[in-house]
Amino acid sequence: MNVEAQAPLAVAPEPTGVSRRWVLRAAWGSLGATGLLGLYATGRFMLPTVLYEPPTRFVLGRPEDFRPDEVDARFQRAYNVFVVRSGSGLYVLSGQCTHLGCTINWFGAQQRFKCPCHGSNFDHEGHVVGGPAPASLMRVAIEVGPEGRLVADTAQRSNGAESGRPGLYLVEAGALR
Ligand code: FES
Repeated sequence: MNVEAQAPLAVAPEPTGVSRRWVLRAAWGSLGATGLLGLYATGRFMLPTVLYEPPTRFVLGRPEDFRPDEVDARFQRAYNVFVVRSGSGLYVLSGQCTHLGCTINWFGAQQRFKCPCHGSNFDHEGHVVGGPAPASLMRVAIEVGPEGRLVADTAQRSNGAESGRPGLYLVEAGALR
């Protein structure tokens, strides 16, 4: 009897677990990824961060777009201003509270601007009528631009004596059609 012919062939055992090649590839891969991340972070650091803010000058519309004796809040969301047309003329009030800068809201039924933060109240001309606010609301510069359209500029603001006089911060009632 031929013993050699019947003996089973020796088979190499299947490799189990993680191979050395796989570990090396993973190590190089993670090293490369870390390097790329570092490059990206450096690039971001070198580039200026752009702040997207609304333009300071913008067109409000024609005087007749604003109803007499009304506070118009159409521009509050985009520019944080209120357009007021009263007996004295047309002016634009900043929506920023003069206490700590919170955003005020107009309550037509009470004819008051109110600040949600600490309760300051302002009348339709922006004067303080209650709360801790130390000064009137700022008026924003306004002019009658080309084609009779009103243009506001939030870069120029005042709550000083000049803000109530016709000129930069008030379009007189007589100049409105
Ligand atoms: S921020 Fe408006 S009352 Fe304080």
